[in-house]
Amino acid sequence: MQARFDATVAAEQRIEPRDWMPEAYRKTLVRQISQHAHSEIIGMQPEGNWITRAPSLKRKSILMAKVQDEAGHGLYLYSAAETLGVDRQDLTEQLLAGKAKYSSIFNYPTPTWADIGAIGWLVDGAAICNQVPLCRASYGPYARAMVRVCKEESFHQRQGFEILYELAHGTEAQKKMAQEAVDRWYWPSLMMFGPPDADSPNSAQSMQWKIKRFSNDELRQRFVDMCVPQVEVLGLTLPDPELSWNPDRGHYDFGEIDWTEFHQVLKGNGPCNAQRIAHRRKAHQDGDWVREAAVAHAAKKAARTKQ
Ligand code: ACO
Repeated sequence: MQARFDATVAAEQRIEPRDWMPEAYRKTLVRQISQHAHSEIIGMQPEGNWITRAPSLKRKSILMAKVQDEAGHGLYLYSAAETLGVDRQDLTEQLLAGKAKYSSIFNYPTPTWADIGAIGWLVDGAAICNQVPLCRASYGPYARAMVRVCKEESFHQRQGFEILYELAHGTEAQKKMAQEAVDRWYWPSLMMFGPPDADSPNSAQSMQWKIKRFSNDELRQRFVDMCVPQVEVLGLTLPDPELSWNPDRGHYDFGEIDWTEFHQVLKGNGPCNAQRIAHRRKAHQDGDWVREAAVAHAAKKAARTKQ
């Protein structure tokens, strides 16, 4: 069985839910996919915060659609996790109990409208860099979910870029607001890729299993290289004095990331961790009656079909 699994992975074919898989492979997938699903769901909050305050009807409807997309991504991902024999309710309870991880990035506040642009451009940009290779992950349901997620993420990234572009080409005050939002989100978005390769306990095995295709540092570098020409088009700057083109490497060199901040956020001490979990708990409680009604409706329907 192990030999067949190894051969399937080596041949770039997909492992499907009914195939035999090593227990550690299954556990790694449940860990990564559930963390990813939680990130999408918690990720609705920083932007949801601006739906009622978006500066025009057009911006409001775009933002609503985008936040709804994030909910959809969370749901695909919980479904993908369920193909591995776990229950979505258990995963949700772990999140509500504060025991599950979700992306560090969603523990930062969105004080201005420009933050919505910066999230779209930088956070969704980083998400695309990280997730396009996941469309080739060896586990079929995860890879297929990623294809659709990535298409929607590219729209999100462009709408964020466009918000920033308009602000950066508006009044002095708007340009300042855009620059300050980029300054706030740039470093945390580099942290989204995870710890440096040397401190990443899961990378080597996940790459061997072809769940991950590139290391955390490789993807982070790709993202920095992508941001530099784009920030020039925006007419803004990135908050890193050490950023410079390195012709020998063919990449941009960049400054040291504050890993202490990253670990603090992971421990629950980021600026909004407590607020995000409290809000998620309240939303879950507020949804109790919807879940009860859905179960009652399903039971009635089942009883009717039996008659
Ligand atoms: N925020 C929170 N936790 C993180 C982050 C982060 N930015 N980066 C790494 N970690 C956690 C890992 O989950 C892991 O925790 P665990 O072992 O307790 O589960 C630990 O730090 C060590 O990291 P790695 O060994 O590098 O972990 P891994 O191989 O899983 O790589 C990565 C981390 C790159 C985030 C990977 O899980 C991944 O690609 N996930 C899918 C993408 C994703 O979840 N994106 C979410 C944000 S994008 C969005 O929602 C719009």
